[in-house]
Order: sequence, then structure tokens, then C-alpha cells
Amino acid sequence: MREILVTGGSGQVGRELARFAWPEGWRAHVLTRADLDLSDPAAIAAKVAERPWAAVVNAAAYTAVDKAEGDAAAAWRVNALAPAAFADACRAADVPLVQVSTDYVFDGSKSGAWEVDDPVGPLGVYGASKLGGELAVRTAHPRHAIIRTAWVVSAHGSNFVKTMLRVGAERPQLRVVADQHGSPTSAPDLAAALARVAIRMADDPAAPAGLFHFANAGPTTWHGFAGAIFEAAAARGGPSPALEAITTANYPTPARRPANSLLSTARIEAEYGIRPRPWREALDDILDELIGPTK
Ligand SMILES: NC(=O)c1ccc[n+]([C@@H]2O[C@H](COP(=O)([O-])OP(=O)(O)OC[C@H]3O[C@@H](n4cnc5c(N)ncnc54)[C@H](OP(=O)(O)O)[C@@H]3O)[C@@H](O)[C@H]2O)c1
Repeated sequence: MREILVTGGSGQVGRELARFAWPEGWRAHVLTRADLDLSDPAAIAAKVAERPWAAVVNAAAYTAVDKAEGDAAAAWRVNALAPAAFADACRAADVPLVQVSTDYVFDGSKSGAWEVDDPVGPLGVYGASKLGGELAVRTAHPRHAIIRTAWVVSAHGSNFVKTMLRVGAERPQLRVVADQHGSPTSAPDLAAALARVAIRMADDPAAPAGLFHFANAGPTTWHGFAGAIFEAAAARGGPSPALEAITTANYPTPARRPANSLLSTARIEAEYGIRPRPWREALDDILDELIGPTK
């Protein structure tokens, strides 16, 4: 049995890597914070050296984007120094490292989808710390894949779909930002892509390395996404509040968000044959799990 070490087991993506139907002969060894605190680089080194892992997938991160604005040292410990520690340890053991990163490395100013080699320009502490992690991994360990994603949702953890369903059941009208663009990403779909890349990298030392993007297909805004959530929820007997489109300026947050988070998935399609499905299909699966099938 070949084992893949996975972090972030209580998070959206780590949980789906644990639930993923790994091919025969492969399994994930999924860690939570209680098993491994990512702010401890020595513990990371010891965990990687513990067994002959086939690959490491680091799906844990300091993801509290607004809190990070006043907590830079903690965000950098988890999002930059931990990936650096994984990269050192994985290089020493010749184990491939799959690092999950974010659209927040971009400033959002581009019109059209961001390519993997577009210039980065994080707007806040979280994005900067994740970019620090990318650079650490890129420079320390050749056998790496950095997979940026955006707008991750699932039936578990805290995310936009679950928040909308909760507040939509409480209020007749919701105000939702309509001037931020992106593609929602299903955590199960992302987990399947991470697993495929990790397995191929484990099998083939010459497998494509470097930067990749994964998001479900099709653009929308948070307002458009909310509309689709409630349309699909209503078909399942769920809530259906009225939606008011507002601008980012109407909804100030401590951390600035990219206005355009659309990610081009051309490279992961070309190099790994991973073709993300439309986000509406993925949303249907999540709502089937959260509410039940359409009536
Ligand atoms: N969510 C999004 O919309 C989004 C968008 C773009 C990129 N990403 C990236 O996707 C990846 C997965 O995100 P997600 O949505 O699954 O995040 P999540 O649900 O917030 O989960 C984050 C996980 O990281 C763990 N973690 C945080 N600090 C830790 C520490 N010091 N030691 C050990 N574990 C720690 C958390 O453990 P606890 O539960 O114990 O706190 C949790 O399991 C991350 O790299 C994130 O940057 C996410």
C-alpha cells in the first residue's frame, strides 16, 4: 500500500481527500492539527521522515483572510514557513510535494482568466503569506506542484454555499456582492485533481512540476453564484430569498479581495488531462448532499 500524507484533515479540502476513492494500492494518511501543528517546523520534518510517503499534499492553511490582516506572523508561519519546512523535508526524502495555493496571490486587475505565469501582486497578508509558501516550495524542491484554486465550497466546513443557505433561511432578502468575478470550486472535485497529480508525481519523477490552476468551469460573481444556489435549493425545497446586487464598496472587509479571481485551467488540462466540469454541476452534487435530491 502506497501512502500519501495529507494535512488539513478537518478542513474542506483535507476532508474530501480523506473521503476520496483512492485507486487500489493507494491510501491517504490524513492529519489534523492535533496530529501535526504546522507552526512547528521540526514536527513537520519529523512527520515527513517518519515513513516512506509516496507524496505529501499540504491542504492545511491559515485561511482566515480578514483575521490575517492583524496576525501576519501567524499567517506566515502556517502559510509560508510550513510549506518551506515540507519542501526541505520532501526534498531530503525525494518525495513529491503538492501545495495548495490561492487566487489571492493575484491583485484581481486582469480582465480574463489568470494564467499560471501571470504577474502576482497580493492585496493583503493572507495572499502574501500564501505567495511566500509558493516561493518557498518552488525554490526549495524541484518535485513540486503548486495548485492554485479559488472560491472553494463543499457540504462541510464553512463556505459560501453553507452561509447562503443559513442566512437565506433566516431573512427574506440578502445583499450580495456583484462586482467580484470568479469560478466556484467544489472541494471534492479539487481533491480528485490533487489526488491525480500526487499519484502521477509519485509514480513518475519526470511528471510535470510547477504551477497549476484548478477551479470548476465557468465564470460568475458572488451574486450570480448566490442566485444559482437559491435556484437549485428551491428545487429541493430549500430557501429562496430575494437577492440585491451590491458593490464591494458597499460591503467593506478588513482584507481587500481580488475583483477578478478567474483562473485559467489550461495547464492542468494540458499536462495532467484534468478537465474541470461546470461549477453548476458540482453545486448540484453539494446541494444533493446538503438538502437532498430535487423534488
Ligand atoms: N476556501 C477557499 O475558498 C480557498 C480559496 C483558495 C485557496 N484555498 C486554499 O485551499 C486550501 C484548503 O482550504 P480549505 O478551504 O480546506 O480551508 P479550511 O476549510 O479553512 O481548512 C484549513 C485547514 O488547515 C488547518 N490548519 C490551520 N492552521 C493549522 C496549523 N497551525 N496546524 C495544522 N493545521 C492547521 C485547519 O485546522 P483547524 O480546523 O484545526 O483550524 C483546517 O483543517 C488552503 O491551502 C487554502 O489556502 C482555499
